[in-house]
Amino acid sequence: MLEMKRIRLEIRSETDRSYDVLVGRGILDSLHSEIQRLGSFSSYGLVTDEVVRPLVAEPLQNQLRSNSIDTTLIALPPGESAKTIGTVLDLCQQLLAQGFDRKSLLLAVGGGVVGDITGFAAAIYMRGIPYIQVPTTLLAQVDSSLGGKTGVDLPSGKNLLGAFHQPRLVLSDLDVLTSLSSDARRDGFAEVIKAALIEDPELFSILEREGADLLDPGNSLLQTIIAKACAVKCRVVNRDERESGLRRILNFGHTLGHALEAATNYNISHGQAVAIGMGLAVRLSRQWVGLSEDNADRALDLIQKLGLPTDIPKNIDPEALLVPLEKDKKIQAGICHFVLLAEIGRAVIHPIPVGDLQKSLQKITRH
Ligand SMILES: NC(=O)c1ccc[n+]([C@@H]2O[C@H](COP(=O)([O-])OP(=O)(O)OC[C@H]3O[C@@H](n4cnc5c(N)ncnc54)[C@H](O)[C@@H]3O)[C@@H](O)[C@H]2O)c1
Ligand SMILES: [Zn+2]
Repeated sequence: MLEMKRIRLEIRSETDRSYDVLVGRGILDSLHSEIQRLGSFSSYGLVTDEVVRPLVAEPLQNQLRSNSIDTTLIALPPGESAKTIGTVLDLCQQLLAQGFDRKSLLLAVGGGVVGDITGFAAAIYMRGIPYIQVPTTLLAQVDSSLGGKTGVDLPSGKNLLGAFHQPRLVLSDLDVLTSLSSDARRDGFAEVIKAALIEDPELFSILEREGADLLDPGNSLLQTIIAKACAVKCRVVNRDERESGLRRILNFGHTLGHALEAATNYNISHGQAVAIGMGLAVRLSRQWVGLSEDNADRALDLIQKLGLPTDIPKNIDPEALLVPLEKDKKIQAGICHFVLLAEIGRAVIHPIPVGDLQKSLQKITRH
């Protein structure tokens, strides 16, 4: 398995065509032939951000050019603050000025921000044009590039404007992760741990065995781990493309994680917030759905081993988490639905009355 150069997964789609998800080392070199397999296009737009531009986008543009694919490179400002409708409009205007039409192909080369913006522009430009995802952060490789959710933020909240638009291909090359900061790497691992906890006990065992060694970008097990985490998301999306029910298990750790992000005014990274959210959800799972003490401890240990927190910061009152839950309409008729773990690798959705939740959170955080 370790020798495998690339792993091909598939996401089936009822609304768009199905597509491949490729995971491997050095596979960006074959992007041109993957594009040719998809068909012929009238023009190519390579959308990236200013940080990724010199690291990945420009070398990729040169390599595509030497294989007869000429791309127009458009670099957006980096970071979440660029994820606005204004950026999408600018991007669409540039595409129009360059003569892009319905047969043009966009390539999203960057983290989740570039992927979400480019996917959204592709969804609405001339009522929809094809695009492919070339994710360059760990989070984007195992999470945001998969599943076809695209969109931007509004001043009053994240991801409030968007569309479902499936890419034609996702190509994740692990070699591009070497330039990521160790914080970004740790943050991405929060989503890998999530995938293991909700769906894949074997992935959990590998993570548990390797621990902090996985933060080394050269670790030879990374390809297997990223492919397994991607496979979890592909399986869940294949069962529930439009998030009617099952896809909600991907929100494990995210209900309280998002509440924590809001309560700290986003002064905490997404990965850390999700790690704490998972820590709380593991302890709620002990109380509400019978997760064994041993498995709860193993889950908490793993999160910590990868350098992530499992407790609410001391300066945050756990009560403060209930406010964003109310505001986000997560509490309805006095009940909040949580993704909990019945076992490692088996997620269940469980209702908790808000009064009990308050008591549970107090109890958990007193320890
Ligand atoms: N669409 C979905 O289903 C989905 C799911 C989860 C998250 N998201 C979205 O994803 C976004 C977060 O994604 P992210 O964490 O990748 O953030 P990001 O795209 O902002 O990337 C983080 C930083 O890393 C830099 N970077 C990217 N690749 C790099 C590389 N190879 N080397 C060095 N630096 C690099 C970027 O320039 C940026 O400054 C959020 O906006 C979130 O809402 C979307
Ligand atoms: Zn997340």
